[in-house]
Amino acid sequence: MRRAAVLTGGSRGIGLATARLFAAAGYEVISLSRSAPLGADIGHIATDITDLASVEAAGQSLVTRAAHWEQIVLVHNAALHRHDTVARLKADDFLHVLTANLVAPQALNRALVPVMGAGSSILYIGSTLAEKAVAGAASYVVSKHGMIGLMRATCQDMAGRGIHTACICPGFTDTEMLRAHVGDAVDIITSMVTAGRLIAPDEIGRLVRVCAENPALNGAVLHANLGQIER
Ligand SMILES: NC(=O)c1ccc[n+]([C@@H]2O[C@H](COP(=O)([O-])OP(=O)(O)OC[C@H]3O[C@@H](n4cnc5c(N)ncnc54)[C@H](OP(=O)(O)O)[C@@H]3O)[C@@H](O)[C@H]2O)c1
Repeated sequence: MRRAAVLTGGSRGIGLATARLFAAAGYEVISLSRSAPLGADIGHIATDITDLASVEAAGQSLVTRAAHWEQIVLVHNAALHRHDTVARLKADDFLHVLTANLVAPQALNRALVPVMGAGSSILYIGSTLAEKAVAGAASYVVSKHGMIGLMRATCQDMAGRGIHTACICPGFTDTEMLRAHVGDAVDIITSMVTAGRLIAPDEIGRLVRVCAENPALNGAVLHANLGQIER
């Protein structure tokens, strides 16, 4: 079986950990990201998810390679996470985040669905903030809620195609995005987790693989957050 895993943001963090797991399982793996992942076993198409022309070009490049693949796992992982609020978020900045986090994934869906064989999957990396909100993350919260909507639409529109979908919602995971966002507050964040630690990126990656290989999870929203303490 010739299988491919295509991930946005496979160069770092959750995406890189997931890419490595798929590569180790024999998938041909390609990261759509600005920088190339380290390691010869992961391919790269230079892509900027904030630039739809770049995303469309990546989609076309993938379509030309797809003749070699019987199944494709498409993982929408890369996302922008800005500090902003409903009171201050400007239309242009909102559009920028929605483009990267929602419109770019849909552009890739549209490009790849026609070449995805039965057993393929479209997996979305959401967030705890896909189903709840915190202050100061308006555009991220909205885009992640929208991602669950896009996943549910995918489930309905792929009926009869043999393509399944799910949204995996990580909690606090030890990556550059988290550390950039919380700064010195890592200890506070960790104290909000029942397990008293951050999630390792490969813990999320293992769940992504489970979703890819289990069509019974079609339409599922899976929260993977070690149990967050509500305050
Ligand atoms: N870490 C957490 O605690 C956490 C919690 C909940 C949800 N998530 C979600 O998990 C996903 C991955 O997050 P992460 O923490 O692993 O982030 P990360 O460590 O910061 O990695 C982000 C990845 O996205 C890529 N990326 C960023 N901007 C891009 C752009 N403009 N164009 C193309 N690629 C871009 C980066 O590649 P390049 O820089 O090479 O482009 C990198 O591979 C995101 O959807 C995030 O919302 C994370």
